[in-house]
This record gives sequence, structure tokens and C-alpha cells, in this order.
Amino acid sequence: MPPRITTDVADALRVIREGGLVAIPTETVYGLAADASNDAAVRRIFAAKGRPADHPLIVHVARSEQLADWAAEVPSSAAVLASACWPGPLTVIVPKASHVLEVVTGGRPSVGVRVPAHPLTTELLERFGGGLAAPSANRFGRVSPTTAQHVLRDLGDVGAGGVGVDLILDGGPCPVGVESTIVDCTVDPAQVLRPGGIATEEVERLLHGAVAPASGPSRASGMLASHYAPRCPVLLAATPAEARSIAAGLTNPLVIDGLDDLVRYAQQLYELLRRADEGGHGAVVAVLPPAAGIGHAIRDRLFKAAADRAG
Ligand code: TXA
Ligand code: MG
Repeated sequence: MPPRITTDVADALRVIREGGLVAIPTETVYGLAADASNDAAVRRIFAAKGRPADHPLIVHVARSEQLADWAAEVPSSAAVLASACWPGPLTVIVPKASHVLEVVTGGRPSVGVRVPAHPLTTELLERFGGGLAAPSANRFGRVSPTTAQHVLRDLGDVGAGGVGVDLILDGGPCPVGVESTIVDCTVDPAQVLRPGGIATEEVERLLHGAVAPASGPSRASGMLASHYAPRCPVLLAATPAEARSIAAGLTNPLVIDGLDDLVRYAQQLYELLRRADEGGHGAVVAVLPPAAGIGHAIRDRLFKAAADRAG
């Protein structure tokens, strides 16, 4: 049966309580959610996505105070970030409380937690009271979905595991458009594992610079380059002029150049990468934004999308 698409939070709550899968809108991307305390329900997430079972999931909660319910202890870096950034596009990795299921953490001693900022999902989380384990709601190897239609196209049919999403809570297009910033607070100094919707500079400011410098591509475990790659080649350019000259030699290229508005660039990035495949484009040529603010996250996803071509 195809999933229901609805704005009815009560319907979504019923599905979660019955151990089903609900695609939830967040400010970053759509998540594929299940009750984080229900082992069988969380296992269905992996079956629906076609994702390896050792990849850890983020636990989403309604309020900052609930971090203590999932953490064995709350490091001071996590407390500072949570109070400044939540609800918002930030995930903290903290030592896990003993009740947190292995299937959620992929057997790790730590757990990722975040309070998302989207009215429908906040209402669902408030009424549910517990935590929702959710990775991005894309089929494994596709870019993250930023609309309900993306989720439907990726997960509308049952996956190889015979499991599909039961209900899609349609909250419209995601306003941030790239995933949350992940900060590992189990180490001192804390470390940015994945740049995202909260600028790395903001994390450094809040922690008074006590952040291990990021080097190379983001390192959150289970982050493969192919997570961000469309099927066609992705070529990177330093300037719009360079992009035009690369594109001139290609058949039916899609040029992505959003330098005048980086917030909008991030909002549109995944939609454009999907359009490259669906529109039959021969290649994507993307202009790299400066490494500042949301530009860190855009660059990270573009480097991954391009790197995948080499391997
Ligand atoms: O914005 C987001 O973060 C979205 C929305 C739905 O919340 N979620 C998301 O989830 O991007 P996912 O599963 O696609 O990416 C989460 C990343 C994965 O690379 C995972 O390996 C990492 O977070 N992660 C989760 N728990 C972790 C842990 N305990 N230790 C290290 N990495 C962890
Ligand atoms: Mg993902």
C-alpha cells in the first residue's frame, strides 16, 4: 500500500505508537522516524532505507531537557550547544544512557540527539513524549529529501526488506535544506563531525574556540561519499566563469550557481541534484561557495557528490 500523505499529527502519532514508520519534516531534511525505544520499529527503518544496520541513528526529542533522558552524562560542551541552538539544526553526540537500544547507536557507546525546529514534528514529539530515531528519509545512496514528494519517490514502494514508510507528515519544503551540524561532545575539545545548518564558526564561538579543527571531508561514521551523489557526474568550479567554461564542453549540463544567496543555495541544493537525474542531465557543474557560514555544509556535500565519481 502506498503511504498516506497528511498534515494530521494525530494520525502520525497513532502510527508511531503502533511501531510504524513516519516520515517527519524538520527544518533540515525529512527524517524516517520510529519509536526509538521499540527495537522492532527501529529495525524497520533499516529495511525501508536499505541501509547497513551498523549505521547509528539520531534520536529526536521535543525539548532540550530531554537530552538528559538519553545521555549517561551531559558534557558541558553539549549543554552549552543545546541551550544556544535548540530547537535547531544541531546534533550532539554524547555518552549514551544504558537503556538506549543498540540498534539505535549501531553498538556504539554514544548517541546522537537533537531537537528539531518544525511545528508539525514538534507537536508530534510533544504528544509522543519519547524519542524518535530517524535518519534522513532517502533510500540509501540517494541525497536527503527536502519535500514530501522526494520521500514518496524514494520510499513510496516497499524496499528490498519488504518494508516501506507508512505515513508521510507533509510539512512543506525544508527551510534549511542541508542536514544538521554534528558535534562530538564525547571528546575534549569537542569536534565537528559534519558541517551543517549551524555554522562551524557559531559552534566555535559558543565553545570559546574549544573545537578540534575540521580537516578533510566530514567524518561522522557511516557517512559515505555516495550519500550525496546524483547518478550523473558532478564537476566543481571555483567561479561562475569557470563553471560556464566547463559547461560549454558538456552535453545538457545543469549549472548550479547560487553564490548571491547561500541560504537559498543550501535550500535548493538537493532538489537540484535530484533534478539532474530526473531531468536527464549529462552532468552537474556546481560553483563552490566560500568556506564560511552555511558555505561549509554546501562545500562538504558538493565535494562528496564530486568525489564519488572518482571511485
Ligand atoms: O538534519 C539531520 O541531521 C537529519 C534530520 C532528519 O534530523 N538527519 C540525518 O540523519 O541527517 P542521518 O542518519 O542521515 O545522518 C546522521 C549521521 C550519520 O552519518 C551517523 O553516522 C551520525 O550522524 N551519527 C549518529 N549517531 C552517531 C554516533 N553515536 N556517533 C557518531 N556518529 C553518529
Ligand atoms: Mg542521511
